[in-house]
Amino acid sequence: MLSKERIGELIAELTLDEKLSMIHGNGMFETAGVERLNIPPLIFSDGPMGVRLEFEKDSWEKKGLSDDYVTYLPCNSALAATFNRDLAYETGSVLGEEARGRRKDVILGPGVNIKRSPLCGRNFEYFSEDPYLTKELAVEYVKGVQQWDVSACVKHFLANNQETARLEVDTIVDEEVLKEIYMPAFHDVLTRGGCYSLMGSYNRINGKFGSQHTHYLSDVVRDEWGYDGLIVSDWGAIHDTVEAAESGLDVEMSVTPDYDNYYLASPLKKLVEEGKISEELINKKIEHILTLMNRLNMLDGERKPGAYNTEEHRAKALKVAEESVVLLKNDKDILPLDKKMKKLLVIGENAEKLHALGGGSAELKSLYEISPLMGIKKLLGGNTKVEYAKGYSCDIYRGDEDEKWQERSLDLNYVRVKSSEEADEKMKELRKKLREEALAMAKEYENIIFVGGSDHVPGHDSEGDDRLDIKLPYEQDILIKELLKIRPDMVIVLTAGSVVDMREWIDDTHAVLWGWYGGMEGGTAIAEALFGDVNPSGRLPETFYHDLSECSAHAIGEYGKKDSVEYKDGIYVGYRYTDKNGVTPQFPFGYGLSYTTFECSNSEVNEEVSTVTCEVVNTGSRAGKVSVLAYMKDKEDEPVKVLAGFEKIYLEPGEKKTVTVNVTDGVVKGREYFAVV
Ligand code: BGC
Repeated sequence: MLSKERIGELIAELTLDEKLSMIHGNGMFETAGVERLNIPPLIFSDGPMGVRLEFEKDSWEKKGLSDDYVTYLPCNSALAATFNRDLAYETGSVLGEEARGRRKDVILGPGVNIKRSPLCGRNFEYFSEDPYLTKELAVEYVKGVQQWDVSACVKHFLANNQETARLEVDTIVDEEVLKEIYMPAFHDVLTRGGCYSLMGSYNRINGKFGSQHTHYLSDVVRDEWGYDGLIVSDWGAIHDTVEAAESGLDVEMSVTPDYDNYYLASPLKKLVEEGKISEELINKKIEHILTLMNRLNMLDGERKPGAYNTEEHRAKALKVAEESVVLLKNDKDILPLDKKMKKLLVIGENAEKLHALGGGSAELKSLYEISPLMGIKKLLGGNTKVEYAKGYSCDIYRGDEDEKWQERSLDLNYVRVKSSEEADEKMKELRKKLREEALAMAKEYENIIFVGGSDHVPGHDSEGDDRLDIKLPYEQDILIKELLKIRPDMVIVLTAGSVVDMREWIDDTHAVLWGWYGGMEGGTAIAEALFGDVNPSGRLPETFYHDLSECSAHAIGEYGKKDSVEYKDGIYVGYRYTDKNGVTPQFPFGYGLSYTTFECSNSEVNEEVSTVTCEVVNTGSRAGKVSVLAYMKDKEDEPVKVLAGFEKIYLEPGEKKTVTVNVTDGVVKGREYFAVV
């Protein structure tokens, strides 16, 4: 490690041009280094589910290499469903070690924006609607990443909760609401988690762009929180040289190769030379960059070696996927299924669809990806005859997606996928045909599993666009309803990144399993849950609404508008809103069944040590894991209860444990605390 003095000396030795070259992009994912002083370039890569594939240095042309396949981890929503801090640490650790293995310095994740509406196209990259769950898991994730001499980069600061008009929309939100709901994860990740990098957002917050917002970046993050790490813009989020230079931002990144025209390149040089901006401001940025490099042992000393595609990483990805599966319905104990069945029909394109290479900047090349169909066949080992019918298709979706969308992503009129009536018509015809085939086959089978959900095409779970509604796409509701008439005991598996409306068929079905985007071993985890090799222990980290009218952003706030969006819902986001207003959603926050049953009693709060203890018994006949949740109630804000702690435990049938849940923010006098399972 270099001393503070040496860093000061280095800054003094750098010329203005050298300094400027370090504070803006010199490649789509890198800054320039200064060879003569042994300062390397800073290399970024996207996360959060794995290290992104390689691009050409100066364009969004994919290199098409054979050595940039990686471990594909479950998405952050899946991770949140585990309610398990250890797994968040392990996830980060896999990502960090792989980032080193791929010679990256900064991994652009985790995304910790709050899920304010189920329409947000990037919800799958985010953890939860709850600030406490988000921060607890994100802190561990970041610690996991950074143990490998790689920096995590928590994003997108601040109030970046919709993709509609994300480049320009102005979020109008009270400071108190930001402090209580939208900032805590950033605050804790940067302070308690020791995260070395922060990414600003595209959107405006109360009038100014997030990536060059002096109030939030400087007054809040630097001065109030005492953060001395790196602040990087989102890609192309800078709009003004003076504002950016003075805001607390260190590095400007963008999506085009005209590096010299970047706001923090020639335009800034001119202002410095004219004496309009002090070189001291630039020195401060260099200090932050060198501090980051120093922390990663990039300037001297030994850097930890990385590794990617190890068996250990794949095992961890599986572990997370297993604990993320949420059992939503299991009437008549239809699940787990009996492995001894003679034949089985699996229906639905998500049974075989692979998701790694989609979603926007979260895309990656997975070494392999076990689909649910492959997971089921693998588990049954050939003893059961497994047939497959597609049932519905997402094959032709409005046209072809533009591969190099990121290059044009700053053009406000740009449409990534062109719709065409002809394609729509063809798609309908094809689905009808597939439906008829599946229905005909269904009559021949006693055991049927439907695997549907969403995917990463624009307009579904994807960056740059929001969803139009929360309906299942591709006419899946029609298919499910017709299949249920033939086999009411058909098991439904859904893999998606955010809430879907199940009202059209939920009352007519017995078993529903929710599998998120579960990473490369997602299909294995789903199969294990279906056949009882793993007892589901995931809980919903977000409210599953029946429809948008139950969600605060749509009921009392604003969402999806282009110019400005006022957060009139204030702190009442997610379950805070439904609790307050007596709304019964489809499935509430924290919901998740198991193949066994648990009871929790004698909940007691200890103010001295800030814990809630309780006794938990496994009252069923199977072993299983369960998350014990501690809630806090403020008498002045009835009937809202707020998550204040959680702990995951394992119990054998009949086993009883005294569980201590830490209320990590400290027990507040006068408030009521209790534990539930
Ligand atoms: C996204 C960021 C991402 C960056 C680099 C932007 O479009 O908003 O999350 O890290 O691109 O790919």
